Amino acid sequence: MFKLPLDKIVNTDDLERSARRCLPKMLYDWIAGGAGDELGLRENRDAFARFRFLPRYLRDVGACSISRRLLGRDYGGPLGIAPMGYAGLFRPQAELFFARTAKRHHVPYIMSGVSVASMEAAAEIAGENLWYQLYTTADDAINVDMIRRAEACGCGALVITVDIPVAARRERDIRNGIDIPPKLSARTVLDGLLHPAWTLRYLGTGGLPVMENWAPYLPKGASGLDVAKFSIEHGYALQTWDHLRRFRQLWPGTLVVKGIMHPDDARLAREKGVDAVIVSNHGGRQFDRAARSIDCLPAIRKAVGAEFPVMFDGGVRRGSDILALMCLGVDYVFAGRPFLYGAAGHGQGGVDRAMEIFNDELSGLMRQLGCLDIEDPNLETFMTNNLKRYPRGE
Ligand SMILES: Cc1cc2nc3c(=O)[nH]c(=O)nc-3n(C[C@H](O)[C@H](O)[C@H](O)COP(=O)(O)O)c2cc1C
Repeated sequence: MFKLPLDKIVNTDDLERSARRCLPKMLYDWIAGGAGDELGLRENRDAFARFRFLPRYLRDVGACSISRRLLGRDYGGPLGIAPMGYAGLFRPQAELFFARTAKRHHVPYIMSGVSVASMEAAAEIAGENLWYQLYTTADDAINVDMIRRAEACGCGALVITVDIPVAARRERDIRNGIDIPPKLSARTVLDGLLHPAWTLRYLGTGGLPVMENWAPYLPKGASGLDVAKFSIEHGYALQTWDHLRRFRQLWPGTLVVKGIMHPDDARLAREKGVDAVIVSNHGGRQFDRAARSIDCLPAIRKAVGAEFPVMFDGGVRRGSDILALMCLGVDYVFAGRPFLYGAAGHGQGGVDRAMEIFNDELSGLMRQLGCLDIEDPNLETFMTNNLKRYPRGE
């Protein structure tokens, strides 16, 4: 039942095992689970198994660049950290760990609209590497104020998540009694006792943490529970293209829409002045029979053209997954769970380790293949021919 020490962590699955050992079952399930039968969850990951690479040998592979230019900025690698709500519940300060890792590796971290730490605290660490993800609220004054705050603290992009028109049915969470307030049963108490390090941290930091981005909209001193209830009542509101148009007017910087699957939505987003999309099925968490995000890429690329940034998340667990996506013409990649597992099991060191594993696997594979630059315009020639049905902008 003991977790591996950090220096024995070899891959991102090891980080998941650590998190599983450290977290009460209901919290581990909350991260790991997907909607319905979890078919979509499994398929996200399995989708990468079909890709094969073609090496070129007798090349000097001493230097290898994974730097990636995106939306007018040069990033240190092609992989950023996806938004994950309530991360600070799994490990206090998790969002600040993400911010620090993003800064160290000079990549984006998208802070969830339902985070524990505030965007101001994360921006102090990450600067413009922090992107802020807004969940539209029913109270427009809150939307306006959150956008104003994101601009004031220097966030590098505003991300609008569009794939939650209704609450998801994740059956593990229903069975485990995940709710606001959390349902306490003999089983959950025992679960807590069996994971004393998490329980002591939870109790030691005052129980259910306050979501700092929302706290300013409640009376001073509101509890974590009050803030959570308020965010549920006001957040996840009805969202239409009109909202997006308004956000475009309010936000002067880079605007990204996350959760796009349909080519017509991608085209509409572009027409409404959005700067980039993230193709995503929310990590298989919203509905089970979602199309595989990777299968949506060719039509979306065709709809938006060769130059429009198309990003991706879902099931990325290996450096080879990142390279496959880049060969398919994806401009940038995000991963979620591996970073949260890293934080839950090992704190800051676990988040850093997740990023190192991804980048080491990626650059190791590139050297093996004789591919020296992730921005190589002929990157797709490193993949076998059967994948040429995904060409950029065809
Ligand atoms: C615990 C958890 C919480 C999440 N919360 C959010 C969120 O607040 N906002 C959002 O846009 N996506 C959220 N997501 C989805 C992720 O941003 C991302 O799309 C997904 O996790 C990618 O799949 P992966 O975990 O397989 O990498 C969450 C995912 C997880 C696992």
